Amino acid sequence: MDNRPIGIFDSGVGGLTVVKEVMNQLKNESIIYFGDTARVPYGSKSKHTVTKFSAQIIRFLLEQDVKAIIIACNTVNSNCIDELRELFPNVLIEGVVESGVKMAIDATSNNKIGVIGTEATISSGKYPELIKQSLANSEVFVKSCPLFVPLVEEGWLHHEVTRLVAKEYLESLLNKQIDTLILGCTHYPIIQDSLQQVVGEHVKLINPADETARFVGTLLIKHNLQSNNKANYEFFVSDHVRQVQQMAEMFLGYPIHQVKKIEIEKY
Ligand code: DGL
Repeated sequence: MDNRPIGIFDSGVGGLTVVKEVMNQLKNESIIYFGDTARVPYGSKSKHTVTKFSAQIIRFLLEQDVKAIIIACNTVNSNCIDELRELFPNVLIEGVVESGVKMAIDATSNNKIGVIGTEATISSGKYPELIKQSLANSEVFVKSCPLFVPLVEEGWLHHEVTRLVAKEYLESLLNKQIDTLILGCTHYPIIQDSLQQVVGEHVKLINPADETARFVGTLLIKHNLQSNNKANYEFFVSDHVRQVQQMAEMFLGYPIHQVKKIEIEKY
């Protein structure tokens, strides 16, 4: 047993989609969430910068004595999880990408899988590489959708503009007859309703958070790290608190009394 919290981080509010699943599935686990609101978006930044930002966040989370870390950011996961595991060998670090791949492979019937994500996630080639490893005869079609993150951070979840942007981005994937679409950015499940309207009911949308929480649950058991305490949730950001507070209350349905701002640059 280990009652210390799990650290979960993202560039902004996107990682709350993972927090939600961890809260639902691992009810005794405490969480410390960090959203890097000062430096969002990560998706347009270089691997070097994203690695540096993530290492600072992990140092902060380790200072809070977390027992495990979930990288709730596809951009970080697909570009630098190996480097981060090397830098921090003594803490369990898990991501979301492999869970998304597993769910998509289970879901597809025609083996035509679409992946959407940030520029950095898509150009890493990580999703197609892992999908092909498990399902050699699959066809994978990718598309970066850089405008989705600012739309989500702005809270335009059911806005006509969001649906118009989605139509523009997703048309090329729909023309390939995909039956499954991985939401390869943790911000995207927040606009899942708008995306589903655009792709139609016949395309299954994959939110990797579901399987991520399940997988982390099995890892905690395996390493005897699960908690038997009442869960406690803490939220930290590097700049504006408003988005995280509003989004957390709306999306998690959980009253957030305090979102604390810290100086992430000093880590
Ligand atoms: N939510 C993150 C992801 O999953 C990052 C989005 C961004 O900051 O560009 O990729």
